[in-house]
Amino acid sequence: MKRIGVYTSGGDAPGMNACLRAVVRTAVYHGLEVYGIKRGYNGMINGEIFKMESSSVSNIVQLGGTMLKSARSKEFMTKEGRQKAYDQLQKFGIEGLVAIGGNGTFTGAKLFFEEYGIPTLGAPGTIDNDLYGTDYTIGYDTAVNTALDAIDKIRDTADSHERVFFIEVMGRDSGYIAVPCAIGGGAEIVMIPEAKVTIESIIDTLRAGWNRMKTSSIIIIAEGEIEGGATKVATKVMEALPQMDARVSIIGHVQRGGSPTAFDRLLASRLGIACVVGLIEGKKNMMAGTINSSLVYTPFEETITKKKGLSPNFTQMVEMLSI
Ligand code: F6P
Repeated sequence: MKRIGVYTSGGDAPGMNACLRAVVRTAVYHGLEVYGIKRGYNGMINGEIFKMESSSVSNIVQLGGTMLKSARSKEFMTKEGRQKAYDQLQKFGIEGLVAIGGNGTFTGAKLFFEEYGIPTLGAPGTIDNDLYGTDYTIGYDTAVNTALDAIDKIRDTADSHERVFFIEVMGRDSGYIAVPCAIGGGAEIVMIPEAKVTIESIIDTLRAGWNRMKTSSIIIIAEGEIEGGATKVATKVMEALPQMDARVSIIGHVQRGGSPTAFDRLLASRLGIACVVGLIEGKKNMMAGTINSSLVYTPFEETITKKKGLSPNFTQMVEMLSI
């Protein structure tokens, strides 16, 4: 293999740039040519492909976002779109790919491999940490710390005004962001898709706190837990507790930005290197990850179909610590 391409796709995550830097520099170190593909699969289809050198990735290790830009491509989900992408890769002589992204990115990569046989390795880049085959995804640690910082600030005002705050954090299908935010942020309740908490039990917990003279409370809700999110939960709960003063705060996309933590930079660098080394060794159609600190490669098939567990005990832990 002489020439590889690299792209970032799906929701961006802090550390994608650090990963890109590692991919480019490892490729150059091993004598490969490396091409950046802009805007994920859309750029692959449209031929937004350019040669990268070691210097192309100078001064980006500390930056949030992705210098390659990102997109969720509808066109790549069609056969015609993938044919166009293949034609572009042929034009540029690209023989292997590194995909930095999440579930949707690897679903596309797997399909593309099955149809055209271009070996692809993936680096897990998503704040959601919902990918099977790695303990942590690139961007997760930064996102949790960003959310926790916001929650600490909300706690100040919740305490001053003796209010109940319903705080929504990201995580489309998982409570991975919500759990450390709830435990680290001293919340009374956490609502996550992995362990259902009823509205009635939230009402009971808040009422019990009120009776114990607890003047402010925090409830963390993972966006994927309930349709309508924190606003819906707050409306239902407050109907039963009109004596309490409540507010809703949706932390939102601030969780996707910012400078990556040291943890994310290290993980991103390690997995970027692993993708290029894996391609050189002949691996294909797999995601690089770390489990118990060891490097592992998991087939895309498993990464996208298997569910990464999150212990329901965490919700009890939140309850126990907020007494
Ligand atoms: O997958 C990362 C993520 O931030 C999810 O937590 C969230 O549900 C989704 O992306 C939001 O996507 P978009 O930026 O396209 O609205």
